[in-house]
Amino acid sequence: MAKVIIFSGAGISAESGISTFRDSGGLWDNYKIEEICSAGCLEWNYDETINFYDKRRLDIKNKEPNKAHKAIKKLSEQYPNELKIITQNVDDMFERAGCRDVLHLHGFLREVRCESCGFVDDIGYKKLHDVYHACPRCSYNLRPNIVFFGEAAPKYADMYKELEDCEMLVVIGTSGNVINTDMFVRSGIQYAILNNLEPSPAIDESIYTKVLYKKATKAVDEIVKDVEEFLVH
Ligand code: APR
Repeated sequence: MAKVIIFSGAGISAESGISTFRDSGGLWDNYKIEEICSAGCLEWNYDETINFYDKRRLDIKNKEPNKAHKAIKKLSEQYPNELKIITQNVDDMFERAGCRDVLHLHGFLREVRCESCGFVDDIGYKKLHDVYHACPRCSYNLRPNIVFFGEAAPKYADMYKELEDCEMLVVIGTSGNVINTDMFVRSGIQYAILNNLEPSPAIDESIYTKVLYKKATKAVDEIVKDVEEFLVH
């Protein structure tokens, strides 16, 4: 398990042009969570839910990883056994920067999944129904491989396992409304960095060793330096 965890949210991809959720103009200003991203939506609002994720898949097609994704990729190559990337993001910016083994807590936009037999496929940036009308294995309806509000998030168990040995936590671009990293910091992390654009009411900045309120691309050089120094000592 990793000594250093890079834990990110929507803010790290903001400078790649991908909307965050709760900043002004963010996705949840324009869509209703309960209509397209909540447990049960696929039963009563299947088409709109599928369309929403088709649009989001298409939206990331021409986006590029930014300096923060790339710098973290380089760091993860330098320290393959000491560093783990965990993200709440469903986009593929880390993968397109060349990262492997990213733990996506809330699913992966490019993937579709069958709830009945567990079939999963990476359909890239295509519309679900341009690729499949039903599960090729069992004919059940396919869905985006995304964790909706109110659904179980099986990857959280992997996150807690990773946290067992974590000594340094770097939090980048998350408001803390869905996963609050304060609880991780309080559970005995030696060195914690918080990088957001601004304070979030959900996060207690006073418990972090270092707080950087600036764009991730502006903060990342200092973050990389701190991680390197931490791992050398
Ligand atoms: N650099 C660093 N931080 C940024 C940047 C940037 N360029 N732009 C925005 N931020 C910060 C904001 O200050 C804010 O704290 O990113 C955070 C974005 O918060 P949210 O929109 O709430 O995103 P996130 O915390 O990732 O949302 C968590 O909510 O809707 C669900 O499943 C979805 O995974 C998502 C989860």
